[in-house]
Amino acid sequence: MNVLTSPEAMTAWASERHGDRIGLVPTMGFLHDGHVSLMKRLRLEVDHLVVSIYVNPLQFGEGEDLAVYPRDLPGDLKRCKEAGVDAVFAPEELYPQGFQTSVSVHDLSQGLCGDRRPGHFEGVCTVVARLFGLTRCTTAIFGEKDFQQLTVLRRMTRDLALPVRIVPGELIRDIDGVALSSRNKYLSDPQRLQARTLHHALYAMRDAFQDGVVGVAELVAVGAQILNVDSLDYLTIADADSLAPLATVDRPARALVAGNVGKTRLIDNIAIGPDFPWT
Ligand code: PAF
Repeated sequence: MNVLTSPEAMTAWASERHGDRIGLVPTMGFLHDGHVSLMKRLRLEVDHLVVSIYVNPLQFGEGEDLAVYPRDLPGDLKRCKEAGVDAVFAPEELYPQGFQTSVSVHDLSQGLCGDRRPGHFEGVCTVVARLFGLTRCTTAIFGEKDFQQLTVLRRMTRDLALPVRIVPGELIRDIDGVALSSRNKYLSDPQRLQARTLHHALYAMRDAFQDGVVGVAELVAVGAQILNVDSLDYLTIADADSLAPLATVDRPARALVAGNVGKTRLIDNIAIGPDFPWT
């Protein structure tokens, strides 16, 4: 496995493999089983598998956890090696001197996490566009846990006609059902119990829908009774493609939740009704 620590080394590595299928799993490190599942999924479809590890300052707002974001490069490299990764791109610095470009997907970046984290998706799009350029990837995978991020990046790739196929990766849950996240390590035992109420709420909403309730207000009320977070950002049901809020579940939809347990911001989501056809 190659470990590449500069943009130049990454591009040289990719250029040597020009014409082959290169798959990219972009990450911010502190890898868990959710990331490994993305690697394994993409491994099957490409000739060369690259994992990028970079905690991107552009996507953190003021007061967010950039300075303390968990890091473990030796552990990450071990996981990547075990998952059959060909190259890890872990640069100290990703942006060139004088960097002044940003990429913004306007409407899809509003609402949901975009309201709470202004500038976040612009930072994500900018780094991902640069990672696409440096790695010369032909396919990239993003987990469904960050559902708005996946939707935004899919739109960016289409709008800019970037030659990269976007694959959605299944959301992976821990044994207690909590969606895997690098930030779960901040949770104390009682907070972990609170964290469970996110997926319990979403599952109850899906069950109610399957029992015939289609009004979003009613479905959200079902979830709200179960949810126990310290501050709620949103609990809602949106169109699975446009992320527009729905009044009635009459098309592929997504129930989404975000809130804080203590200082830790948690998100989760689930398909409601038929899954969105990602083709
Ligand atoms: O999902 C993440 O970990 C990040 O937002 C990403 C896609 C690696 C961009 O920094």
